[in-house]
Amino acid sequence: MKDSWRRLAERLGGRLAFQAPLRELTSFRVGGPARMLARPEDVGELQELLASARRERLPFIMLGGGSNLLFDDAGFDGLVIKLGAGFAGLEGAGSLVRAGAAAASADLLAWTVARDLGGLEGLAGLPGTVGGAVAGNAGAGPEGLGRAVTRLFVLEGDGRARSIPAADLNFAYRRLEGLPERAVILEAEFALTSRPAVEIRARLAEIRERRGGQPLGGRSAGCVFKNPPSISAGRLIDECGFKGQRVGGARVSEVHANFILAENGATASDILALIDRVRQGVLARRGLALELELKVLGPGGEVRA
Ligand code: EPU
Repeated sequence: MKDSWRRLAERLGGRLAFQAPLRELTSFRVGGPARMLARPEDVGELQELLASARRERLPFIMLGGGSNLLFDDAGFDGLVIKLGAGFAGLEGAGSLVRAGAAAASADLLAWTVARDLGGLEGLAGLPGTVGGAVAGNAGAGPEGLGRAVTRLFVLEGDGRARSIPAADLNFAYRRLEGLPERAVILEAEFALTSRPAVEIRARLAEIRERRGGQPLGGRSAGCVFKNPPSISAGRLIDECGFKGQRVGGARVSEVHANFILAENGATASDILALIDRVRQGVLARRGLALELELKVLGPGGEVRA
């Protein structure tokens, strides 16, 4: 082990682990180990981790709630960083709210609803963290929570902290563009609207009801594919007859065809093979090429499109 990692391991104690299992950190609960897994509690620790990774050209990824992510069976040959509770603060001044990247999306939503602030209702029923939700512009329907973001506080690749106004960012469908390469989201600021509690609760109920048609419980990672412009991917896959189809321990949900469930003994390869089968079938039958919404990471950190 290089000296810098040994020093970091001494400083972080059990919060820096080697050959660390990743499966318990994702909602699919599949995949191999990470070469290193770190849980920094403050910006200084995070800066040291990023500096060591950069010095040694070790790929790193930020892990949020792991609820939209598939690791390879070979794991990830790099550094996985999961921000600790020190990055999960929530604070507000009037209708401006700042949330730490590690805060649970559900906690942020509850915090805003308790203060009669509307604008984040699309987070209702979503697992995951604020950092992950912002990076993937998560939400209900095509519009994501990016609409409410006013600025992001990030650490840039060289370790410097910076605030990026929303005007420099583009929140597209389940995607955030405009972040400098290698930038790590630390906090997001949202501009919300004071609204009567009954209105907010009615909107939440509406969104929860829409999600009623999705499989609850079970090991899944939400929608696997993005919706093509003209049709819901779930409907398309359903119409192509894929509900209930399996590869090994992976199965297309009977409740919503854009969900894949991992059952006993499922591997990442099973899920990937099922994804390929669905894609090929939909392309052959309907001429539409489905794009992944799920983030699929290869062992070297490469993202599968
Ligand atoms: N449908 C079927 N069969 C299915 C699934 C859906 O016929 O197996 C039909 C439904 O009956 C409905 C239509 O397709 O008429 C649309 O379905 P739904 O309302 O479930 O919405 P969706 O387009 O499939 C989108 C988001 C979800 C989000 C829901 C509700 C994407 C890819 N999906 O799903 O997001 O929860 O709207 O707001 O954008 C996610 O991001 O992981 C996710 C699940």
